[in-house]
Amino acid sequence: MEFKHEPIMLNEVIENLNIKENGIYVDGTIGGAGHSSKIVERLKGGFLIGIDRDEEALEVSRKRLSGYQNVKYVHGRHEEIKTYVNELGIDKVDGILLDLGVSSYQVDEGSRGFSYTKDSLLDMRMDKEQTLTAEDVVNSYSKAELEKIFSDYGEEKFSKKIADRIVKCRESKQIKTTYELADIIRSAVQKDQVDSFKRIFQALRIEVNGELKELNNTLVDAIKLLNIGGRLCVITFHSLEDRIVKNTFTEMQGKCTCPKDFPKCVCGYKSYGKVITKKPLVPTDDEQMRNPRSRSAKMRVFERDDKN
Ligand SMILES: C[S@@+](CC[C@H](N)C(=O)[O-])C[C@H]1O[C@@H](n2cnc3c(N)ncnc32)[C@H](O)[C@@H]1O
Ligand SMILES: [Zn+2]
Repeated sequence: MEFKHEPIMLNEVIENLNIKENGIYVDGTIGGAGHSSKIVERLKGGFLIGIDRDEEALEVSRKRLSGYQNVKYVHGRHEEIKTYVNELGIDKVDGILLDLGVSSYQVDEGSRGFSYTKDSLLDMRMDKEQTLTAEDVVNSYSKAELEKIFSDYGEEKFSKKIADRIVKCRESKQIKTTYELADIIRSAVQKDQVDSFKRIFQALRIEVNGELKELNNTLVDAIKLLNIGGRLCVITFHSLEDRIVKNTFTEMQGKCTCPKDFPKCVCGYKSYGKVITKKPLVPTDDEQMRNPRSRSAKMRVFERDDKN
């Protein structure tokens, strides 16, 4: 199957990364190399490290960037970014991109179980070496746990009803497929079913892949890996994700707590740099029209400086 995925806010990412020809860059979610192909094009002497937890996505990137010798591919999670970079004998890098969530390819590839529009086993693992699947979550989590996931990660107002219905249905028969789950959601929710399908499938995907659990640590490690002037660009698709990025950036920027009338700062607050985007960047109207998946995207940028 062809890897169809239009890179989100491509121009904005390239502009904000301030790419230097001889710099070292990390794409922590390389996917189909949509952004990375534009990053490597700009490098002369520099190189790129591309990480993805999905082996199929890495394979697509390897092919797409086969003309470049200056790319290192890592099958793994961006949560381990520091280890991977250090293992290559590198201390600091000049720019990092995280384009979070799933790719359109993963959703469109029916067999992965990400989509309620394709009948397949309830899998949803981005990394097939992982053991926990959506089937495990749906069939083994308690009613209260399911309700919490649906309402926290899916912001679904019928979370309780849907969790209730799941627990009843699984008493007689294990819930195995995307269509079976969609039928259960349909029977629990009368109106706006498509939106409920989307929200519940999204919530399960976030839980299965632990997408929000270590994001804060990844961001802290990524910022610490940057050279002075280096930038971290993060694209999110979910309000909770965006909140984590916003709060971590604010923490890493730090804040002077000296009284206003002090001539100079004596509080010695720690700062790893500054937030470049006071408000998140969003796709242009044109991009949102062309690519509906971009509509929920938000990008925030942090620049390392030398206060510490
Ligand atoms: C939105 S896509 C990236 C698309 C890419 N920027 C492009 O333009 O082709 C997100 C990718 O991140 C990967 N991914 C998600 N969570 C990850 C994690 N924790 N560590 C590494 N890769 C992850 C997914 O497998 C997917 O390929
Ligand atoms: Zn101060």
